Amino acid sequence: MVKPDGVQRGLVGEVISRFEKKGFKLTGLKLFQCPRDLAEEHYKDLKAKPFFPKLIKYITSGPVVCMAWEGVGIVASARKLIGATDPLQAEPGTIRGDLAVQTGRNVVHGSDSPENGKREIGKAFDALLRYYHLLNLSDMIT
Ligand code: TYD
Repeated sequence: MVKPDGVQRGLVGEVISRFEKKGFKLTGLKLFQCPRDLAEEHYKDLKAKPFFPKLIKYITSGPVVCMAWEGVGIVASARKLIGATDPLQAEPGTIRGDLAVQTGRNVVHGSDSPENGKREIGKAFDALLRYYHLLNLSDMIT
């Protein structure tokens, strides 16, 4: 997902391009205004953190771009392409390392496991997930 700062800064194409160049396939794309309840559900594991209220305000502050990517090793590889949570710690060559300086404005979100990937794609793309199940292709989105 390209977060609101990434969308506002015109970085959607840059993010897509990096994943495409790596060899992954874009199978879903959606501009989306994340409602508060979905944002809180998405980040529920961080609810006790002091930055949680700011995180929810930020993620609901403007449109995000949800993407579904497909390919061998996509979840682990995407984590590497995205880089560390704190952009100042992220390696040059990663999206956050090259394009951001603040943890609270770190351009992208990536699913941290195949299970969460499926769950998050399900939330963002109801119809797409039904399609995967129909074709029995759900393994391909991991
Ligand atoms: P987290 O899931 O730990 O990181 P990642 O996005 O790399 O999987 O945290 C989710 C988001 O919460 C993170 O992208 C930015 C925000 N965040 C802060 O604003 N401050 C913080 O100190 C941390 C750890 C995260």
